[in-house]
This record gives sequence, C-alpha cells and structure tokens, in this order.
Amino acid sequence: MIGVAVLGYGFMGTTHLAAWKMMEGCSVLGLWGRNRAKLEEAASRYGVEPITELDNILKNDKIEVVDICTPTYTHVELAVRALEAGKHVLVEKPMALNLGEADRMIRAARKNGRKLMVAHVLRFFPEYMRVKELVDGGHLGEITSLRAWRGGPAPEWSPWFMDLEKSGGVAVDLAIHDVDYAIWVNGGLPSRVYAKIVNLVHKEYRVHDFALITLRFPTGSIAVIEANWALPKTYPFTMKLEIDGSKGVVQLDNQTPIPLKMWTGDKVEGFAPETLPWKPGVHPFPLDPFYREIRHFVECIIQDRKPITDGEEARKSLATCLAAVESSEKGAPVTVGG
Ligand SMILES: NC(=O)c1ccc[n+]([C@@H]2O[C@H](COP(=O)([O-])OP(=O)(O)OC[C@H]3O[C@@H](n4cnc5c(N)ncnc54)[C@H](OP(=O)(O)O)[C@@H]3O)[C@@H](O)[C@H]2O)c1
Repeated sequence: MIGVAVLGYGFMGTTHLAAWKMMEGCSVLGLWGRNRAKLEEAASRYGVEPITELDNILKNDKIEVVDICTPTYTHVELAVRALEAGKHVLVEKPMALNLGEADRMIRAARKNGRKLMVAHVLRFFPEYMRVKELVDGGHLGEITSLRAWRGGPAPEWSPWFMDLEKSGGVAVDLAIHDVDYAIWVNGGLPSRVYAKIVNLVHKEYRVHDFALITLRFPTGSIAVIEANWALPKTYPFTMKLEIDGSKGVVQLDNQTPIPLKMWTGDKVEGFAPETLPWKPGVHPFPLDPFYREIRHFVECIIQDRKPITDGEEARKSLATCLAAVESSEKGAPVTVGG
C-alpha cells in the first residue's frame, strides 16, 4: 500500500481525493489544511483523517506521497519541504510562479531522489490523448499550426486567483494547459513567443483576464493560444483545439455532440464515445482524466519511471507562459528564458 496525504481541500484537493480513493494499492492517510472547521468537514466527507500539523505528515513514514492542491503561491515551500522529508510529490499546475521557484523544486527532487510530477491534466483527457495519438500516428502529416481556446467565467469564488501575485493571472494559470499541450505535440520549447495579455473586464482586480499567445516552434509550426476569464458567469467552461498538418486537420470542441473530428484526404471522421469529454456519472471512472493522471504517477513510483510531466518538463510551459507575459509587457516578441 502506498500511503498518501493530500494538501488542500478546495476544488482540486477534493477532485484528487475522489480519484485517490478509487486508486488500487493506495491509501489516503491524511488531508491537510489551515482552516480546522473546513478541513474536518472535507475529511469526514471523504472518510479520511484531518491533519492540522504539516509535520505530522512529513514525519509519518507510512506516507510516501504528498499531493499538493493548494494555491499556486504556496507550491514551492510545500513541495520543497515534502521532497526534503523524502516524499514523492504530485503538485497542481502551474508548478510555481517563477523559474527560480521551479528550479528549487526540481533541485530538491533530484537531491532527494524523489519523483516530482506536475499535474498537467490535459495530457490525460481521453480526447486530447486521442489527438496526440493521431499526430504521432502520422495521420496529419507534418504539423503546420495549432489553435487552442480555453475559457469560462473568472474564478472569483477563490479570491487568490484574482491576484496576479498569487496565481500568475490567466496566462500562467489557465493558458498553461494549452501551452503545455502545444509543447508536447510540437516536441519541445518554442523558439519565439509573442503575446497580448490584459485585464479586459475585471477592473476591480489586479489580474490579467485575457491572454492571446502566439508561439513559433523551431520546425516552423505556429501555435495560437487564447485563454479567457473575461466571460459571463453563465458561460460554460469551454475547450477547443484545432491542429492542421500537411495531410489533415483534427478538431476538438467539448461543447459539441461529436467533440473530435478529423479531415484527411477524401475522408471525414468523427470519434466517439471513448473520446467524448468525460462527465462524472456518465462515463466510467477509469476515463476520468484526474484518475488517469494520478494512476500514471503511481505507476512511475512503482516502476521507477520518469513522470510524463516531471519538474523539468513542466518548467518548459511555465517558462513559455512567463515569456508570454514578458512579451506582452514589452510589446515585442521574446525568446523563452533559461
Ligand atoms: N488541473 C486543473 O484543471 C486545475 C483546475 C483548478 C485549479 N488548479 C490548480 O490547483 C491549485 C489549487 O486550486 P483550487 O482551484 O483547488 O483552489 P481552491 O479551491 O481555492 O482551494 C485551495 C485550497 O488551499 C487552501 N489554502 C488557501 N490558501 C492557503 C495557504 N496560504 N496555505 C495553505 N492552504 C491554503 C484552501 O483552504 P483555506 O482557504 O480554507 O485554507 C483550499 O483548501 C492551484 O495551483 C490551481 O492553479 C488546477
């Protein structure tokens, strides 16, 4: 049995808890948070032990994995402490707010010989996995361009998101999903980044709520990524993707009945149902992207393998999003920083 502790009982903490509770060979031995009443309520809902002292997790030899689901500005200190205590760490994206913090986390993982995985869950969504398989299978030929769109109402329910210093704003918090995916599909870092990242609607907060990011890859392929928090509260959370290649085009839209379509030569194909966007209670749990993501991390621990989004890999998307912010501030294209 792999003993696990989850830090944070908010949106992601409870999402991860539900997945951990279904995970074969794992046992959640504690849930940590700073507000005792809320912690106890969440812990009793999931049938796990509430732990208020972090040291009681770090010193517990039965706990091998610490899963960090707290706000982004807290990631670096919690991750480094857990890695130094000999725990494997799964941490929500974005891994950190700057590259110095990311490097501290990567160094702590290396020094202590522990796994560090950043939860870039898009790589585990069935429909996004299928698109990657189609690309890798050569169905589209050479990738020429990628367009990704992601948006919904601003996450005002958790005020820390609306503080640029704590969340990084829409570019670092939300666009990073598609930036990571574009890096995965294009096989590495972009060479140039040009972006416009602004506060369009939420003038009462110091936060970016709209990001338009263009990436140029060494192959010549171009990605255009838009992330949008400047939408009404009634707007459904929407994800769209199109990849164009020399031989075909694939398109994905989580708001349409056939979310995944491909055009190649003289053929048009729609993919369903295993590639449908996963919906709780509708599709079987093993299709849940969060379950798949955590399962991957567990397998990497058991088989001593490198997680697909380890610290080094996740640093690439953080560096790219930070370069996008820099580009927007300068009003000029920039290269991705080291
Ligand atoms: N993969 C995805 O699709 C996805 C989606 C959403 C968020 N995320 C990421 O997941 C992380 C958590 O986001 P979330 O939506 O779960 O946030 P959330 O709902 O606000 O939950 C944050 C949790 O951390 C606790 N917390 C707040 N401030 C803290 C502090 N200073 N020290 C320790 N605990 C603190 C909160 O409880 P108290 O305030 O009561 O202490 C709560 O339990 C972020 O990095 C976010 O970017 C990822």
